[in-house]
Amino acid sequence: MADNAAMTASSFDFDRYDHVRPIRWTGQALELLDQRVLPFSVDHVRCLDSDAVAAAIHNLTVRGAPAIGIAAAWGVVLAANAIDAGNGLDAAAALAPAMERLNAARPTAVNLAWALARMRKTLVAAGTDWRVVLTREAQAIEAEDLQANRKMGALGAGLIAPGSGVLTHCNTGSLATAGFGTALGVIRAGVAQGRIERVFAGETRPWNQGARLTVWELQQDGIDATLIADAAASHLMKTGQVQWVIVGADRICANGDTANKIGTYQLAIAARHHGLKFMVVAPSSTVDMGTASGELIEIEERDPAELLSFRGQRVVAEGVHAWNPVFDVTPHDLIDAIVTEKGVVERPDAGEMRALFEA
Ligand code: MRU
Repeated sequence: MADNAAMTASSFDFDRYDHVRPIRWTGQALELLDQRVLPFSVDHVRCLDSDAVAAAIHNLTVRGAPAIGIAAAWGVVLAANAIDAGNGLDAAAALAPAMERLNAARPTAVNLAWALARMRKTLVAAGTDWRVVLTREAQAIEAEDLQANRKMGALGAGLIAPGSGVLTHCNTGSLATAGFGTALGVIRAGVAQGRIERVFAGETRPWNQGARLTVWELQQDGIDATLIADAAASHLMKTGQVQWVIVGADRICANGDTANKIGTYQLAIAARHHGLKFMVVAPSSTVDMGTASGELIEIEERDPAELLSFRGQRVVAEGVHAWNPVFDVTPHDLIDAIVTEKGVVERPDAGEMRALFEA
């Protein structure tokens, strides 16, 4: 693997192996690395108001559960900066419509609602300096996500035996978070520690987060990854080249059931069939103890055109219909470990989840 030897040092140089950042706050605007056009164009979309942020979340300019929560928090700051600060202003009421529009941008990843709830709570408790307080809170949400990812990287990598191969799905990296990534953070740390020798990434049809984003992001940091067609996953497992499947999450329920990118569920089934381990890596902002189990999660369905067309050009016969759910739910009994910054839940169920998240 290119440059992997340099990463076996006991102290991990986070900055050296984590170059990409999807979100940039300038003080007046939110600049989002446009994930629709990567890897061949590295462009930023400049959002000057909260509705532009909501649109960017909906159209996947910014994507990945933690990243959309962070972007929404900055969207609230933009909304706060846009309202008149007259005497007696009820800032919470004034910001509520913008926050509702941000919340409606995507349904499945709980991080979006979580970040908005945190901003709302902060606002209600704030004094006359509420704008400054909101800005600090958005900064804190972003900074805490990066810290959580680094912690999870160490915890998750600790579960992996030296010399292992791993398969990941979608993009869970710096692009999907404040930086370092969730599942990709574990992979970064595992490669650095010499535990992971082979990294495979599924292309993640139909939006190709794996093919367009994950292998590009790892390439930026000098980590070799081999792309496979989604349909090659079971065959790869059978060859013995991977020992772990490592994925992120968009919502983890009170019993450990986990919503993640469409295709995750079939990877968990195939992993169990082949005797491989299955790890979910997500910050506690992705844990939704208010949702008892996976069947209660709203699964986002997107435009069938994502399936019927490629780069804007129709590739399927006219008149053919398509169904495009973009997340699925992996039942908790197919998961070997849920890694969060608060600790690891092995063989998750309602009791194990309560022990860590309601203690
Ligand atoms: O539709 P996306 O690209 O936003 O979906 C992203 C995923 O499903 C990721 O696996 C998940 O958000 C975890 S990212 C750290």
